[in-house]
Amino acid sequence: MPVKYIPYYPNTVQGQAILDNITRTRRILRYRDNDKVYERIQRGMPYYELEKIESVIPLNPPLLKGESDRREQGEFKNMLIRGECISACAYLKDKNIKVDLVYIDAPFASGADYAKKVYLRKNPKVAEAIAQAEEEFELEELRAFEEKMYGDIWNKEDYLNWMYENLTAIKSVMSETGSIYVHLDWHIGHYVKVLMDEVFGEDNFRNEIIWHYFMGASSVNTFGRKHNTIFFYSNGDEYIFNRADIGVAYNPETIARAKRGEARYSVDAKEMEKNGKNPGDVWDIWDDVNPIQGNAIENVDYATQKPEALLERIIKASSNEGMVIADLFGGSGVTAKVAHDSKRKFIHCDVGINSIQTTRDRLVAAGAEFDIYDIQDGVSLFRNPVQTMDKMKSLITGLKNEDALDSFWEGGIQDSKLGLVPVYIPNLLDHSTKVLDIPLINRIINEAMPDLPDGTKQVIVFYVDIENESELKKFISEYNATGIDIVLRDLKSILDDVVINDEIDYKMKKSKTGFEVEIKSFTSDRLIQKIDAYNQKKSLNGSKKELFEENSEDEDDSAGSSTENGTGKKKNKFVPIAISKNGLELIELISLDCTSKDGIWKSDCELKIDKNGYVILNGKKTKEFWNAKIVSDKKPLRMKIRNIAGDESVIVL
Ligand SMILES: C[S@@+](CC[C@H](N)C(=O)[O-])C[C@H]1O[C@@H](n2cnc3c(N)ncnc32)[C@H](O)[C@@H]1O
Repeated sequence: MPVKYIPYYPNTVQGQAILDNITRTRRILRYRDNDKVYERIQRGMPYYELEKIESVIPLNPPLLKGESDRREQGEFKNMLIRGECISACAYLKDKNIKVDLVYIDAPFASGADYAKKVYLRKNPKVAEAIAQAEEEFELEELRAFEEKMYGDIWNKEDYLNWMYENLTAIKSVMSETGSIYVHLDWHIGHYVKVLMDEVFGEDNFRNEIIWHYFMGASSVNTFGRKHNTIFFYSNGDEYIFNRADIGVAYNPETIARAKRGEARYSVDAKEMEKNGKNPGDVWDIWDDVNPIQGNAIENVDYATQKPEALLERIIKASSNEGMVIADLFGGSGVTAKVAHDSKRKFIHCDVGINSIQTTRDRLVAAGAEFDIYDIQDGVSLFRNPVQTMDKMKSLITGLKNEDALDSFWEGGIQDSKLGLVPVYIPNLLDHSTKVLDIPLINRIINEAMPDLPDGTKQVIVFYVDIENESELKKFISEYNATGIDIVLRDLKSILDDVVINDEIDYKMKKSKTGFEVEIKSFTSDRLIQKIDAYNQKKSLNGSKKELFEENSEDEDDSAGSSTENGTGKKKNKFVPIAISKNGLELIELISLDCTSKDGIWKSDCELKIDKNGYVILNGKKTKEFWNAKIVSDKKPLRMKIRNIAGDESVIVL
């Protein structure tokens, strides 16, 4: 349950047009009691407990001027927050932390599910693999499967209401002279522009930036879609805009012409050379190798990752050194990384554990100092909300999709006595449905249940949190006139049972170089289940394809080795992913805490194995392959192992 709701005021700026067909946070929720229409509820931002889970202090810190004073005085610390944007805003507002610049790149309502490729690592115990290292590592060892990260599938009204709440929450934590950049595309951008006018005021609209890149579907029926839109608003009349820091070089020919006095320009040649020209609002920023995600060096394999150059321009233009920059849908951590590089402070928030881990590792490599927090909102039960939702469906015995039910219901359970029992599950991507309260149950009773098939006897309503259970039950008994029984069930208890830790077998000894921990074996049931499911799905697809394509020359797209087919053309055949007995290829990161046996994690020594098998030691890339060991100067007290899908297990040594 949220500890409290922090009020915020979504006042429409006077004179603004409003989108009238979407609901608002402030909406009046009406429920009927005979002829009377009852009152509304007005919710604020849900504030949950925050748990600090890790404090990252650079292992070889180049102490900046005044930094030790700053640490002692407990001044603002950079933050990574796992949780929803709206709850992060509740925290910031409660702590009176003001943000000078916000960049958000929220899901675009693009109708896509984003997945992450999970790479098996090189197994250090396979002797030949080490010996033959580089040449042989390509195909077989770079075996990968996919993990869902987040879904971007919304209906327009829900999306806009959700976005409106987020924008309003963000505005409430922006400094008076702050600015906001909202990154969108053609799916929903035009609607959000109207919302932003409503929230920030048309007079505070500064730019519609077109980020143009060379990628994306080419089309025969339309022009290729090769840009995203970024709306730039300030919070008031006064705002920062550092024109001098964002100039782009003039064409030397133009400067030469200005010097020769051949043409009239609004600035003289000297100024042209010094300040460059204003880049304008169409930004051509891409990399030849990886047109969207930024160059190979910065690519951290996060779907939807944006290039650092894009954020550099925004941060330089709209903030000064020492200011606080927030990205509340932070993804790969690009904003935090660029903010750190440009001597700004940062707040990164994301619902996905994968985002927090990717950003953490990226910032460790950049030598940043920050704290990691987990918002205790009951959603991080299984990596991220999308995977949690998927997992839930598989855990509720008998739950199946049912054509007779509309999309409000997750599906139904066929019961021998009760017949079809419809099941409601809250959308974990939308905080407003997580708490079961009177307005929600009222909606279920008056809007959803009347449309159920005749003869329905019972429905099951799952919740993450419940507001005043006894009042809710009283409400149900008084107002449920449908004759259908409502059974309430707690979702958390279902998931709590399935999160099992990975098993680690290790040996620790004191060696000449320090304390050496050798990993003997690693077993992850969670991953093995995932890989089994992947193998089954791929094999099934493969055999179906073979049936249909026996004589076809088309190439199979499944991963795996290639074999010659009868036509002389290469045909890919799926080779199931197999895990070795010791399972070491399932490990992504090992961290040793030599400071404390419990409480906030402090990584005194860490080793990450990148997808090509190379070791990143304390954030520094090496050309070494992992040898199944990690060595630290100080005696390790506990060890954390992160598997390749991001699940973490901790053992006290
Ligand atoms: C388009 S991606 C951001 C990519 C990022 N700009 C980058 O360059 O890596 C959107 C992110 O929003 C996160 N997300 C979705 N809903 C969220 C919410 N309610 N609060 C915070 N983060 C959310 C997703 O997990 C995802 O990482």
